[in-house]
Amino acid sequence: HEEEHSVDVDDMGQDLERVLLDREQIDARLAEMAAQIDADYAGRDLLLVGVLKGAVMVMADLSRHLHSAVEMDWMAVSSYGAGTSSSGVVRILKDLDTDLTGRHVLIVEDIIDSGLTLSWLLSNLRTRGAASVEIAALLRKPEAAKVDVSVRYVGFDIPSEFVVGYGLDYAEKYRNLPFVGTLAPHVYAD
Ligand code: XMP
Ligand code: MG
Repeated sequence: HEEEHSVDVDDMGQDLERVLLDREQIDARLAEMAAQIDADYAGRDLLLVGVLKGAVMVMADLSRHLHSAVEMDWMAVSSYGAGTSSSGVVRILKDLDTDLTGRHVLIVEDIIDSGLTLSWLLSNLRTRGAASVEIAALLRKPEAAKVDVSVRYVGFDIPSEFVVGYGLDYAEKYRNLPFVGTLAPHVYAD
């Protein structure tokens, strides 16, 4: 029976502790970021590089606020090491299809936590002959920073708590929530 397999947002709502950013707040901020990006890259061809899987929602919504025709490509990376924190050693699971030589590249990310993943990605892409490489991230946890990464476009600075929704997952779930929230403790407990 089909209905038994469907999960609706009300069910997921029970798993949430609180909503940190609702969809209107996210969309309004992405529109502002897009206006800034349009202005900064006026007259230049831009390649957006989304980091799978978390940045899918940010990429989709940010890019649709842009007024210029951009290209999009995707990378998937994974941090080596156990646990929920980044080790800084990154492995490429899916590389770009695009040659970066001479390109203006904007990395699109969901969240910067320790900064280790983006710091690695930034230096990796900068070795490929791009004209410029900058970062746009929806969320940043300033208190969790282990390395200083210069992020040109930041949506929101948030407290150092684990968040889900709008692309961000806990055990691959909750990515489809249209907002960003924190999980209720019963979800972690088992
Ligand atoms: P670093 O520490 O390298 O980590 O900046 C960035 C990556 O870690 C994941 N991450 C999170 N995922 N909720 C999530 O669902 C969070 O609160 C969170 N903090 C970090 C994420 O994949 C990000 O790209
Ligand atoms: Mg990510």
